[in-house]
Amino acid sequence: MKGRTVMKLDQDIQEILISQEDLEQRIEEMAAEITRDYAGKAPLLVGILRGSYIFMADLVRHIDLPVSMDFMVVSSYGAGTVSSGLVNIKKDLEEDIEGKDVIIVEDILDTGNTLVKLTAELLKRRPASLKLCVMLDKPDRRTTPIKADYTGFSIPDAYVVGCGLDYDQGYRQLPYVGVLKPEVYE
Ligand code: IMP
Ligand code: MG
Repeated sequence: MKGRTVMKLDQDIQEILISQEDLEQRIEEMAAEITRDYAGKAPLLVGILRGSYIFMADLVRHIDLPVSMDFMVVSSYGAGTVSSGLVNIKKDLEEDIEGKDVIIVEDILDTGNTLVKLTAELLKRRPASLKLCVMLDKPDRRTTPIKADYTGFSIPDAYVVGCGLDYDQGYRQLPYVGVLKPEVYE
C-alpha cells in the first residue's frame, strides 16, 4: 500500500475487494481505451455525483484527448443499502449535449435502474453518441438490462465502499474498494 496513511475507517472494512494498485492500473487501461476509441474527437464526460468523482478524476488524468466535463446529481438510494427503484434528476447538466460525444461516468452499475433511466433521458437530447463507463459492475444484481461500454471490474453481490462509493455518505475517501463489516450497518 505504498505507505498510505492507515485510517480509523479501515477498521470498519471486512475485506478489500480491489486494491488501490489494481484500481490505478485498470483505470489507466480504461483511459487508454477511451483515448484510442475517441481519437480525433473531444468527448464530454458526464460524471454522476457524488459517487463518480474520484473515479472520474483518476480516469480523466490519463485520457490524452481534449475532453470537457460536466456533472449531474441523480438519486436512487437513501441512507440504506437497498435501491428505491426511482431516479430523480436533482442537478442537471450545465452543457447542451446535442451533437456531442457523451460518456457517462458512473461509480457502479447495480440494478441498472439509475442508468437505464438516465440514458433514456440523455438520448432525448440528441447527442452524437452516448457511451457508459463504470468503475464497478455487479452483474448478479441487474433487474433492468443494460451493459456498460467500459467496465473497470465486475464484482460479486456485496455492498462496497471506497473510491467514491459511500455508506450513508461515509467511506468515500478510502483508496480501495472494500466490503463493510456487517455490524456497521446492522
Ligand atoms: P442502480 O440504479 O441500482 O444501478 O444503483 C446505482 C447506484 O446505487 C450507484 O450509482 C451507487 O450510488 C449506488 N450503489 C449501488 N451499489 C452500491 C454499493 O455496493 N455501494 C455503494 N453504493 C452503491
Ligand atoms: Mg451513484
